[in-house]
Amino acid sequence: MEILIAGERLRLRRATLDDLNYIMKLQAAPENLKFIVPFDENYHRKNFTSADKMDVIAEEILTGERVGYFMLRKLDTPCAEFTHVIIDKKGRGYGREAFKLLLKWAFEIKNFHRIWIDCKDYNSVALHLYESLGFVREGLLREILLTNGVYENLFVLGMLDREYKRDKG
Ligand SMILES: CC(C)(COP(=O)(O)OP(=O)(O)OC[C@H]1O[C@@H](n2cnc3c(N)ncnc32)[C@H](O)[C@@H]1OP(=O)(O)O)[C@@H](O)C(=O)NCCC(=O)NCCS
Repeated sequence: MEILIAGERLRLRRATLDDLNYIMKLQAAPENLKFIVPFDENYHRKNFTSADKMDVIAEEILTGERVGYFMLRKLDTPCAEFTHVIIDKKGRGYGREAFKLLLKWAFEIKNFHRIWIDCKDYNSVALHLYESLGFVREGLLREILLTNGVYENLFVLGMLDREYKRDKG
């Protein structure tokens, strides 16, 4: 098991083939699907061994139970992208704890320069979470997604290493 980082209640580890069904199930759940762009099984299979992409599982330290997953891309550049932020056990602070751990891993252990993420403009829970963690809304990609015949907008949010360090004081 490749543990990336551990916190109070959760630890993050690299996903493996054993997590594929879990990841596909979370992607397809209607309450998640409306906020993401799903990827197929083959794409995720490559993430398990790829050098520039990774699926990350968040799980409870106490029980070992999975609570969600993230997908990270562009890991071979100074500017990594976080995408597919999905928490299965919602509304218990797990999203905030897992995301904080991911930022700590990215900026304190891996020394990325920049982390960025995109988010549908009406996804108020995710936008609130990202902005409260210090992400800056950098721009709006207008009508960039066509979902069931409707064009949707995406905000791009970013955080730089110096902003992360400044906010940590
Ligand atoms: C967005 C998501 C990852 C957040 O994870 P979570 O574990 O549910 O969130 P948390 O419990 O850590 O709460 C984070 C913040 O959002 C707020 N929040 C959570 N659920 C909420 C809801 N239903 N309505 C309003 N605010 C909510 C919390 O109050 C908290 O803010 P606070 O600390 O200032 O009080 C999760 O809800 C999810 O998987 N959503 C579907 C997929 C998605 O939208 N992904 C993001 C794509 S960009």
